[in-house]
Formats: sequence, structure tokens, C-alpha cells
Amino acid sequence: MDFQSCVHIRQEWDIVGARQLGRDKAKEIGFGTVDQARIATAISELARNIYLYAGNGKICFEIIEDLEHKGLKIIAKDDGPGIRDLSQVMEDGYSTSGGLGAGLPGVKRLMDYFDIVSEHGKGTEIRTAKWVR
Ligand SMILES: Nc1ncnc2c1ncn2[C@@H]1O[C@H](COP(=O)(O)OP(=O)(O)OP(=O)(O)O)[C@@H](O)[C@H]1O
Ligand SMILES: [Mg+2]
Repeated sequence: MDFQSCVHIRQEWDIVGARQLGRDKAKEIGFGTVDQARIATAISELARNIYLYAGNGKICFEIIEDLEHKGLKIIAKDDGPGIRDLSQVMEDGYSTSGGLGAGLPGVKRLMDYFDIVSEHGKGTEIRTAKWVR
């Protein structure tokens, strides 16, 4: 795989495309089927949030490596309205759309690393990663 590959999220169908590409990368890196499913779920949640709240953006994938492990890094980036209160959105059940509000806390639980940078009015970038065990 190239250093980074991205899927643009513009329409609902792109969520499926990002999910599928991410699952393929995860498999290629050596994740088992359960972790592949976890990663695919995390990607769906991030892509759906971009589609719903920012209108469009992208999901990018990178293979990461240290001496002993390989992993997959996922970057979800948009130039949407941003998130005003980051600690609030990480609480289970917080939603501005009548959703379950389980998306972002769920992604954090499914992955090994999770970080949000968001500026109100400028956009959101979520970086998350998982290592092969
Ligand atoms: N990319 C984004 N840009 C702007 N706001 C966002 C973005 N992603 C999430 N949010 C805000 O964070 C809130 C929480 O997101 P989260 O995915 O946890 O829950 P939800 O989308 O509301 O519900 P669920 O994902 O369970 O259907 C959203 O309601 C929305 O207000
Ligand atoms: Mg969501």
C-alpha cells in the first residue's frame, strides 16, 4: 500500500466504500476476523459522522510499524462545523442528532489509540489506531 490512501466521503454510499477498504487493509496487515470487524465498525462510525455533521470529508489509512508490531491508523478529516465541547461528545449518550451518541465513545473502545482535534467553525480531525496482537 502507498504511504496513505484515502476515501472521500460525500454520499452515504461512500461510508460502505471506506468500511470495505479499511477491512481489506486490516486483513492485509494481519488482523484476525474479530479485529477486522471492530476496525470496520469504527470506520463506519467515523464516516457516518462526517456524512451527517460535516457533509463531506475523507477517511485515510496508513500502515504503522514499530520493531515488533504492525498496525492500522485511521484518520477522519473534515472541514465541517467542528465540535464545541470535546469532553461532552466523548460521553456515552451525547448526541445532537437524536442518535444513540455511542459512535465516538464506541470508536475509542474498539481501537487502541484515539485522539480528536477540532476547532469550532473549522473542522474536525480524528486519529485512531489499532495494533495487531
Ligand atoms: N465530524 C463531526 N463534525 C461535527 N460534529 C461531530 C462530528 N462527529 C461527531 N460530531 C458531534 O458529536 C456528537 C456525538 O457523536 P457520536 O458519533 O458519538 O454520536 P451520534 O452520531 O450523535 O449518534 P450515533 O453515532 O450513536 O448514531 C454528534 O451528535 C455531533 O454533534
Ligand atoms: Mg455518530
